[in-house]
Amino acid sequence: MTEQHDSKTLWHGRFAGGPADELMAYTASLPFDQRLWLDDINCSRAHVKGLAHVNILTNDERDSVLAALQTVENEMSSGAFVYAPSDEDIHTAVERRVTEICGAPGAKLHTGRSRNDQSVTGLRLWCKREVPKVINRIIAMQETLLARATEAGVGDDAVYLPGYTHVQRAQPVLLAHHLLAHGWAFGRDIDRLRDALKRADVSPLGAGALAGSSLPLDPSFTAHELGFAQPFENSLDAVSDRDFVAEILFGLSMVAIHLSRIGEEWVLWTSDEFGFAVLDDAYATGSSMLPQKKNADIAELARGKAGRVIGDLVGLLTTLKGLPLAYNRDLQEDKEPLFDAMDQVSLALAALNGMIATARFVPERMKSAADAPTMAATDLAEFLVRAGTPFRDAHAIVGALVRRTLAGEGSLVDLVTAEPTLGAEAAALIAPGVGVTMRTTPGGAGPKPVAEQIKKFATAVANWKLL
Ligand code: ARG
Repeated sequence: MTEQHDSKTLWHGRFAGGPADELMAYTASLPFDQRLWLDDINCSRAHVKGLAHVNILTNDERDSVLAALQTVENEMSSGAFVYAPSDEDIHTAVERRVTEICGAPGAKLHTGRSRNDQSVTGLRLWCKREVPKVINRIIAMQETLLARATEAGVGDDAVYLPGYTHVQRAQPVLLAHHLLAHGWAFGRDIDRLRDALKRADVSPLGAGALAGSSLPLDPSFTAHELGFAQPFENSLDAVSDRDFVAEILFGLSMVAIHLSRIGEEWVLWTSDEFGFAVLDDAYATGSSMLPQKKNADIAELARGKAGRVIGDLVGLLTTLKGLPLAYNRDLQEDKEPLFDAMDQVSLALAALNGMIATARFVPERMKSAADAPTMAATDLAEFLVRAGTPFRDAHAIVGALVRRTLAGEGSLVDLVTAEPTLGAEAAALIAPGVGVTMRTTPGGAGPKPVAEQIKKFATAVANWKLL
């Protein structure tokens, strides 16, 4: 047994002595929920106005608490705020200080309120404030992808590279097409996060500890004050619902997964083996031992940190699983995974965005990889199809030619030229730069559809920005 804590908590009335140091160390959430300070102050502002609105507080009492809250805001924003050892969480700290500043009216601040409704109200406000910032970073990434796609072009001098399946060269694709593939995926991420914010946009304030209050509280009033779309419908649900956190964490996990896929590609692209891109020095790292090294650590961490963000999601889901109604202290575990995922995804978006914006592509390397003669195999088969050959037969004919060229019987161009059903016209499809022009399907990888796609994507990004 260690010493009991000197200072008393908010709930000390029922207890003979103060809390043990170990209890405070283990149960306090202040080290991480400090981030909710502004949201908690705003929550208290709305609550105290709500209490005056239904005449539980006089207007003078309300104004004196509001003035004290302003002082607390000033102290917290300037860093002058002094936390007390009894401040278990940010809610306790704010209320303690308000009461120190304004005395009796401050002691009325917590009327009809519990930290159970208060803490989740603050967290919802935080999400409404912070998630749009991540969305802005996703849009910035889309703008970089769009700029680089536009620069890579769709004309005669457009940059193209092999498109891959199974990490085996498959068909040539325009670089613009490849870059925008990631851009569209980020668009779904934006939609998903915005959709999750709709469910976050509910005020739990007034639910109290779990059941509401005998006092004439008006949850609609405080919901409106706080800018929420609506108040809760059920107080038990209000204090225990963390679906919105799970949904945002899933949205962030998908962003992290998309970033990890880009990261893996750039690890490959910047290797000597691929040599498709060269990182700007400002976005590359060196080795402490190997003087020649230039590493793509940002790309690797974008790949590596996805595991941690997924862990944040799975951790929260595991916390929520099997929890009986209503509030349980387990729910305090909602904040750290959310904060961590937001931090990591924000940092990754900024770093990867800078890396992609400043990197130099190496068109010669991309093009020569994409101009390997066998990359034209499908075009040769489709040439036969246009002449009436069933596709399965065409596939077999071209496959046999590929087998023969791999066996050293001659170049594919020579073999195709000599093949009666193919000939010189078909052999021309193997020439460098021809293959990438062949795909005409809307949404496909050729110049015409990609030119249309770039325009569509630019409009889509402008719309994502507006919303
Ligand atoms: N710090 C707590 C949390 O984040 C506040 C709620 C505590 N409520 C309680 N009855 N102990 O969830």
